Amino acid sequence: MNIVVLISGSGSNLQAILDSLPHQHSSTPLGTPAHLHLPPSVNVKAVISNKSNVFGLERAKRCDPPIPTQVLALKTFLNRNPGSSRQDWEIELSNMVNSHKPDLIVLAGFMMILSPAFLNNIHQKPIINLHPALPGAFDGAHAIERAYDAFKQGHISKTGCMVHYVIPQVDRGEPIVVADVDIHKQDTLESMENRIHETEWRIIIQAVKKVLNV
Ligand code: GRF
Repeated sequence: MNIVVLISGSGSNLQAILDSLPHQHSSTPLGTPAHLHLPPSVNVKAVISNKSNVFGLERAKRCDPPIPTQVLALKTFLNRNPGSSRQDWEIELSNMVNSHKPDLIVLAGFMMILSPAFLNNIHQKPIINLHPALPGAFDGAHAIERAYDAFKQGHISKTGCMVHYVIPQVDRGEPIVVADVDIHKQDTLESMENRIHETEWRIIIQAVKKVLNV
């Protein structure tokens, strides 16, 4: 079963998926425990980024064999296609995704909001997204920072992260896996963020297992 992963940055969650696929050797392992491994029937077919020169692309290239990577930056697309729109970019992106015949599309640190222009052009395949907050808590951007501010103001005592199905409403799709993340009194933003990321690396694989039923 083919997975296509969309990224925008460091790709640590892409790495978590790669490390759960021992048959797709990855050279910078995060050390995924065996019970979180995915079967050889699953593979990452391609990694697509909306930004060039991000480390997530490097992680794919370091696999053996290297995983194909593609970049489709919005600004570059608009410059190369005068008169085109963001919707045209989304359709181009969905065509790129479809070309790999995915069984599952994973948004792992993908920072662009995808409208029905993209969603409607993906041929009936599940699209899932990782969000570093609990359902309905801090939708949208800078969720981790907003959760930390809420903690410092005494409004929350814990936070979390989730993987959910992607729908047009940002971060509002049906949750697939949700995990609470404790916030400690002495936490800095960084220490809390690290705890969230470590939890994300686990739930992203649990979500792939659940959706692909493997
Ligand atoms: C993750 O926290 C993810 O939830 C958020 O962006 C971050 C990306 O991390 N959308 P990475 O690129 O997977 O390292």
